[in-house]
Amino acid sequence: MPDKFYLTTPIYYVNARPHIGTAYTTIAADAIARRKRSLGVDTFFLTGTDEHGQKIERSAAAAGITPQAFTDSVSSRFRELWDRMGLTYDYFVRTTDANHKRGAQKLFAELHKRGYIYLSTYTGQYCVSEETFVEGPPGTIGPDGKPTETVTEENFYFKLSEFQRPVIDLIESNQLVIESEARRNEVLSFLRGDVANAEKTEMSTNGLPYVPGALKDLSVSRSSFDWGIPVPEPAASETKQKHIIYVWLDALTNYLTAVGYGSDAPEDQARFAKYWPADLHLVGKEITRFHCVYWPAFLLAAGLPLPKKVVAHGWLLFEESKMSKSRGNIVRAETILDVLGADALRYFLLREIVFGQDGSFSFDALVKRYNSDLANGYGNLVSRTLAMIQRYFDGVLPEPAAQQADGLATESHRIITDFARFFDNFEFSRALEAAWTLVAATDGYLTASAPWKQSESTSDEQQKALRATVLSTAAEAIRIVTALIYPVIPDAAAKVWAQLGLGDIKEADLKNLTWGGLKPGTKLGELGPVFPRAEKDAITRMQELEQNNNAPAEAKPAADETAPVTGTPAVPAPPETGTHSVPAGPSIPATDSAQITIDDFAKVDLRVAQIKVAERVPKADKLLRLEVDLGYEQRQILAGIAEAYAPESLIGRKVVIVANLAPRKLRGLESNGMIVAASLEGGKAVLASFIEDIELGARLK
Ligand code: ME8
Ligand code: MG
Repeated sequence: MPDKFYLTTPIYYVNARPHIGTAYTTIAADAIARRKRSLGVDTFFLTGTDEHGQKIERSAAAAGITPQAFTDSVSSRFRELWDRMGLTYDYFVRTTDANHKRGAQKLFAELHKRGYIYLSTYTGQYCVSEETFVEGPPGTIGPDGKPTETVTEENFYFKLSEFQRPVIDLIESNQLVIESEARRNEVLSFLRGDVANAEKTEMSTNGLPYVPGALKDLSVSRSSFDWGIPVPEPAASETKQKHIIYVWLDALTNYLTAVGYGSDAPEDQARFAKYWPADLHLVGKEITRFHCVYWPAFLLAAGLPLPKKVVAHGWLLFEESKMSKSRGNIVRAETILDVLGADALRYFLLREIVFGQDGSFSFDALVKRYNSDLANGYGNLVSRTLAMIQRYFDGVLPEPAAQQADGLATESHRIITDFARFFDNFEFSRALEAAWTLVAATDGYLTASAPWKQSESTSDEQQKALRATVLSTAAEAIRIVTALIYPVIPDAAAKVWAQLGLGDIKEADLKNLTWGGLKPGTKLGELGPVFPRAEKDAITRMQELEQNNNAPAEAKPAADETAPVTGTPAVPAPPETGTHSVPAGPSIPATDSAQITIDDFAKVDLRVAQIKVAERVPKADKLLRLEVDLGYEQRQILAGIAEAYAPESLIGRKVVIVANLAPRKLRGLESNGMIVAASLEGGKAVLASFIEDIELGARLK
């Protein structure tokens, strides 16, 4: 048996444009697929769109176009967004595809042929937005919070009642694994019925009670509207009405048709034989029942193998309720991609929210996580380590002089194991937390060994040996972290891999991860910022992008394409004061001093900061690298003041900085802000400072 892994996401309804709720499942699936592939497993990752049913027919009518034109347009928006996010699905299924329709009809015909589908009449309460009948009198409130519609239909029924015990057995024996435990219990209690109040119960194979008859037959066709796959012959001839296949039976079948079910072509049949059954259906918790009751019953009835596992995650909440199109509280992924990038969204969703539980999204929390874990954490560790290798060893990985620090090597082994255990158990947040302990340990190791310090008691030779050991050890730890977190932040991992001198990241390189893979003598790639710190206005920019985009999908088809590009500052860079030796950004000549309003001035965020670290930048006579403390955060600034100030004289000094200047790179180092100074003739700088004592972070206005 070849080692394969077939995983799926739900196929999303095209009545709504994609949002970060639908992105959530797809991102989680992508991270799993990337990890599986990097472990050498032949992986097939499926996603797609669910395009039939009454609510889609109604959405199309509301938009004034045919259902096909409507679904073509919305489906392609999903696909374009997934592509823009770099999601590595192997196939994108659409239920309006000819081969899907053929497969769905084949399954229906198979169930009919085996005697599990029959024609009958039913009157009940139907919830259109969830495409499901609910129990109750007319006017019952459906799961979407709206009154149901009374629907009387002659329908084809599936003998779901016959599968009560087989499905209970399947789940109790864990042949079908359901996670989390809470979801498994919900499904089982639905299947078992109200055992406590029942007159009569029977026992499952496992010896647990259930109420026979608690599971009713399921209507699997509709005749009140047209937008769906026609019920095939010979069933179709049993009635004069035109029936279409119930949208959930149609939709669930995608997991089969996408890998070849329904096709006579030998290559499709081989693909089906290879990948089916699915190893993992990843779903949101509200559709667990469809995947854990109806779906296994259909498959059992058709004599097809059953999926191995269904994992249901919780809901992404926004403004206190489930993010959904019908509630109108959605956040588009594009907004986050524009401002912080795909990795930021991926990392946030998998780190901040405990998989399986509900979790809140907020721009504030997103930016906090981004700055603390990605910009100041991982990103900063990479920049400082590689910048020092650049500076002290001309960008070539040194040979460690001593035995590499055992501490970090041992630590990394433990973390590789922990990460795998958590990740493979869908505990993404804990896996990432484990990986970040290695970031912190490496940071601590660098700080403790301070390779940048020239101690007077050590010789140059000893100093060089210490630096070689410390920096090569830190670089190796970075390699390990990067390989581990690649499935979650693939773009950043690829950048860091190249910066480490390892070239293009390949999933195959990530297999058998052990300490010591980085070879001395490796030439670093071109250095550059991995996660530039989020600007202060990132939150408001994202909120504004959302406000400008909250019209329905059909009303504003091209709105997303007009969104601003990442990193574009909202205001032009303020005039240079001469503190940067390397000019960057547009400079406004002093003579051209058009008047500005107080609001213009207010855009410049001037703050008090204290210099904590000051050092020369190799091969740049005018430049100093400073680390300043703003009270609320630390950052690195490059300042062209080396000719005016000795680095030592600056430590502890309070200065004024432009805090909201877009980050930029000088000599391969990132500068996050600008020191304010007067520029004397000849370019000599005099720092702006205070006579009174002043609190860090205070704003000048
Ligand atoms: O149910 N939080 O499609 P759908 C977390 N077509 N996940 C969310 C979410 C949120 N706020 N909003 C959406 C359907 N999702 C059917 C599925 S499968 C054969 C047919 C994700 O467009 C989550 O995975 O309503 C949820 O189950 C799915 O999108 C529902 O997408
Ligand atoms: Mg839904």
